[in-house]
Amino acid sequence: MHSSKVTLKRQSNKQAWSTFNLGRKLFTTIPAFDHYLTDLLSEICNNKQRVVEYGCGDGIWLEYLAQKFPDNQFVGVEWTDRLYEYAKNIRLKNLQNIKLYHKDATTISVDCDFFYSLGVLEHFSDAVAVLKSWTEHLAPNGFALTIVPNLLNTIYNMQRFQLTLDQLKGKKEVVHNCYGFEQLWSHNTILKIVMEAGLEVLLFRVVEENKKERPMLIVAFKREI
Ligand SMILES: C[S@@+](CC[C@H](N)C(=O)[O-])C[C@H]1O[C@@H](n2cnc3c(N)ncnc32)[C@H](O)[C@@H]1O
Repeated sequence: MHSSKVTLKRQSNKQAWSTFNLGRKLFTTIPAFDHYLTDLLSEICNNKQRVVEYGCGDGIWLEYLAQKFPDNQFVGVEWTDRLYEYAKNIRLKNLQNIKLYHKDATTISVDCDFFYSLGVLEHFSDAVAVLKSWTEHLAPNGFALTIVPNLLNTIYNMQRFQLTLDQLKGKKEVVHNCYGFEQLWSHNTILKIVMEAGLEVLLFRVVEENKKERPMLIVAFKREI
């Protein structure tokens, strides 16, 4: 584990996350999304030994992967007390191949072959700097996967965040106060963030399996030259 020198102007409010997805079971709420993501994560974990999840919540994805790949080493980073405690003492208690850090993910990076973060990056005011610091500790040919909300899912954003069409129209990024601080990015904006962090995009898609949110997913590899 390495500390990072990133200092953010803003990020989300730690306390606001305390009940997020607490105790959720996979393949129940949005089965199509869970199947898509577990298949994709599994495909990558098949070739990558050391895996990190930044902002792992209550450990729902780590539990699935660590059971499926007992010879891989998994690390989860989570700053919210309640989610961390649940992951450590309940969900992941009996899994020997997971290490958890109760830390702010903007201040640490972990050596790995693959890292992923789901619904996290958009809560950092300087997402490029954080992603870059995580990427610096990715092995050569290491992979990264992230999922972020989709600014271009107009109707959903208007309904969920009480935004007007004028607030979204023609914008590359829109800041609002979900969990204290969240950015909505356009397709091109997230691609630019990923590229500027030293990653090359392998796969970009709107995750239609999550019908309402239609978030954006990016898989990238570490650029060596
Ligand atoms: C959208 S939730 C996703 C949780 C989990 N990946 C899941 O899918 O259930 C975002 C998670 O990132 C965590 N998080 C946000 N900012 C963080 C930070 N600076 N350091 C560590 N965790 C953070 C939140 O506490 C929350 O658990």
